[in-house]
Amino acid sequence: MTALIRTRADLRRCVTAWKRAGQSVGVVPTMGALHAGHLSLVEAAKAACDRVIVTIFVNPAQFNNPADLAGYPRTEEADAVKLAPLAVDVIYVPAPEEIYPEGFATKVSVTGLTEGLCGAHRPGHFDGVTTVVAKLFAQTGADRAYFGEKDYQQLQVVTRMAADLDLPVEVVPCPTVREPDGLAMSSRNMRLPSETRAAAATLYRVLTGMAADLGQGAALADLRPAAEAALQEAGFDRVEYLDLRAARDLAPLDRAGPPARLLAAAWLGGVRLIDNIAVG
Ligand code: PAF
Repeated sequence: MTALIRTRADLRRCVTAWKRAGQSVGVVPTMGALHAGHLSLVEAAKAACDRVIVTIFVNPAQFNNPADLAGYPRTEEADAVKLAPLAVDVIYVPAPEEIYPEGFATKVSVTGLTEGLCGAHRPGHFDGVTTVVAKLFAQTGADRAYFGEKDYQQLQVVTRMAADLDLPVEVVPCPTVREPDGLAMSSRNMRLPSETRAAAATLYRVLTGMAADLGQGAALADLRPAAEAALQEAGFDRVEYLDLRAARDLAPLDRAGPPARLLAAAWLGGVRLIDNIAVG
């Protein structure tokens, strides 16, 4: 049976008992508004771990825009219903003071990897992510933590943090789950105005086309203008970035060669969409 836990003291009691029994613990950190992408992470955790915790916490520290935080979907009951068939052991829904108690004064910050892409457009975002993820790793005592490749930069940043801080947790990457038309699943998709939904899949189509051309030796700089024009024609308001990066350290690339990732962020109907695909 799934337990709904709201305090770190209750969580600790539970995890301590599991560890005493020699059981492994997997965690799937989320901000709720669960979709099939999250559920695929839970399935991966269930397949590899004796115990699975799903955390649901809309983390104020990672929102650089108060309106974005206020509008972020909060759907706890519906999330519990979606998780029911997967029979996780714990859904951990901490109140803000369980994560950031009075006097909280610590920040976990990864340099380098966080400086471009989303980091360049969302000041403080990754510090908020790494701080809360470090807390969630500590509170859950997880042996493995599951993150989607959809947030590719986040995945690299969290992996770096865990390695740099010698955290005893394996960060497990899981493939992006897509809608039938290719749109990457995201909690933000539910905020897309209905008249923009069909256009949203253009982002993935553009990335796929560019990846094919890059694979044929084309230079990113030669492909970018047509890609941006295709997005604008489809109804996107603004392209924030459209970049080719080395898969591991996210160093900028102009052509395919070493394992690489093509990453984009663009605004449609007031919603910021991100996506990425492997190149080469
Ligand atoms: O990817 C997310 O939903 C969040 O950034 C995470 C990892 C749960 C931290 O708040």
